[in-house]
Amino acid sequence: MMKCILAFVIALGILVTTCNAACFSLLPHLGETNGCLYKGELYESGSKFRTKDCYNCTCLMDGSIKCCQAYGTPVKYDKEKCKAIFDKKACLYHVVEKRNRSKECEIFAMVG
Ligand SMILES: *[C@@H]1O[C@H](CO)[C@@H](O)[C@H](O)[C@H]1NC(C)=O
Ligand SMILES: *[C@@H]1O[C@H](CO)[C@@H](O)[C@H](O)[C@H]1NC(C)=O
Repeated sequence: MMKCILAFVIALGILVTTCNAACFSLLPHLGETNGCLYKGELYESGSKFRTKDCYNCTCLMDGSIKCCQAYGTPVKYDKEKCKAIFDKKACLYHVVEKRNRSKECEIFAMVG
């Protein structure tokens, strides 16, 4: 589970926990007996799926759906030197140097 992301904030020397994963729930559609309907697709009860916009969803037994954002957003890094690039396929952010994108930058804090 990546709901809570621990980030060690070096500048302050304290341990920060961000637990505000972006989640939402959808109520069952009326008349459905088996599975969950999401954006026109039917999913089995108990199954997990990943949406195109990078949410991890679970179809619950009562036909409702719970989804949480599948990635964290870097909020603390050297913004002068580095930039965050979103990888849509992997659903994650890479923080790399602006001048040399093959160099990863250190991330000090994430949310989501
Ligand atoms: C989302 O699902 C993928 C694989 O299905 C998993 O690797 C990832 O940790 C999940 N993310 C969250 C935030 O639960
Ligand atoms: C970019 O960084 C990589 C990895 O550190 C290094 O091998 C490469 O030479 C660098 N490229 C430039 C243009 O500085």
